[in-house]
Amino acid sequence: MSLEDEFTDVIAKAMRGLGIDVPALSEASGTAAGEIEALLGGEMDGDAAHAICPALGLDAAALIALPGYLPEPVAIPGVRRIELPYRQWIVNAWQVEFGGVRLLFDAGFGERDIMGKVSPDGLDALLITHSHEDHIGGVESLAATGVRVISETEALAAGKFTFGSLELETVDLSGHCTPATGYFVNGLGRQLFVPGDAIFAGSMGGCKTREAHELASATLRAALAKAAPGCIILPGHGPATTIAEELASNPFRKRFR
Ligand SMILES: [Fe+2]
Repeated sequence: MSLEDEFTDVIAKAMRGLGIDVPALSEASGTAAGEIEALLGGEMDGDAAHAICPALGLDAAALIALPGYLPEPVAIPGVRRIELPYRQWIVNAWQVEFGGVRLLFDAGFGERDIMGKVSPDGLDALLITHSHEDHIGGVESLAATGVRVISETEALAAGKFTFGSLELETVDLSGHCTPATGYFVNGLGRQLFVPGDAIFAGSMGGCKTREAHELASATLRAALAKAAPGCIILPGHGPATTIAEELASNPFRKRFR
């Protein structure tokens, strides 16, 4: 098991989200461009990392510790991570089964990949976090079998859903993608949070503009503030984690706390 992003990806995402290139970051941080290039190339240098992190809104200690960070494994009965192929990467779908209810969050990239992993029979709903290609590939295949599909737009408009003893509450997570929704799932022993790509263990989804990056941070901050203690995060890429672990160990943590 590994994280979705390495520290190089985190630095690159922060630079892209803030619209800062290497010369600008060099200027802002007083760090030689060559040292920044070396960091981006995978050579961790604690002094250089400490120097550039303030200009990037990153937590230097968390960034430096990222190569050794993995959240505690989370095993909740009825919750299954479904890893699906996305070009050379992996994308998650999550199945939550409890009290005779079975829900699927996101549908992978390939049109039929999800069909080999999840039975559509008795599936109560497919709930979409955001419409990037790696999360909605299987929508039509599942819809063709009669599965109810709830888009991010419908979810945000509804605000709440009830499936048996499970109560879902949606939150706006626009930024990485707009619109995007996150789902809090209540009714199991511990609260679940399905955020799509808004947050990963040790990182967050990339944003193409400064405006989007700021929006992503603001919506995520507001969403996390609503979470119950012990809340488990089931992200769109990488392993499950907890809000408590991400508030401590995610290099972007200052942006969403
Ligand atoms: Fe995405």
